[in-house]
Amino acid sequence: MQMREGMIPSITKDEIDAMVSELAAEISKDYDGKELVLICPLKGSVLFMADLCRKIKLPQMIDFVYITSPKGESCRIIRDISVDIQGKHVLIIEEIIDAGRTLSFLKSRLMASYPASLKVVALLDKPALRELPIMPDYVGRTIEDRFVIGYGMDSEEIGRNYTDIYNFAQ
Ligand code: IMP
Ligand code: MG
Repeated sequence: MQMREGMIPSITKDEIDAMVSELAAEISKDYDGKELVLICPLKGSVLFMADLCRKIKLPQMIDFVYITSPKGESCRIIRDISVDIQGKHVLIIEEIIDAGRTLSFLKSRLMASYPASLKVVALLDKPALRELPIMPDYVGRTIEDRFVIGYGMDSEEIGRNYTDIYNFAQ
């Protein structure tokens, strides 16, 4: 893998696996007897989605949405979902929430399609720099305000394939 300078191991692949298993167990229990639609915002959530969906032992559909949220600009949809979510139990699968802009935008977009329910699963939550009042319903771990890469998360597109999560020395 292409290691970046100053990278510090933060969360190991075993810890990630345990977090994902715990989230999946909780979701499988809460939605027992129901069918789910899991929505993965590209690209950062792809690895988390792939692991989580296989551990949720419930009937489910998966779909992908690609939203860009450049700093200082409004969010824009590059690729919209293609399944009909009306009357469905929908979960947004986010790898990390920071300012919360992307998630707020996506939530209101999806609410407009009248799902039966809509909740948010986040592997990591960085509430320190939140700009909008939004909280995940399921959280793997709350972390301090540090930029992290690995397990789907990137720094200028590098690092998504790392199996562990790293942060940078400050
Ligand atoms: P928000 O709109 O500021 O909440 O940003 C959400 C998106 O920004 C996340 O889904 C990630 O794709 C990306 N992001 C936020 N924090 C980090 C980070 O520490 N590392 C890598 N990507 C991040
Ligand atoms: Mg994301």
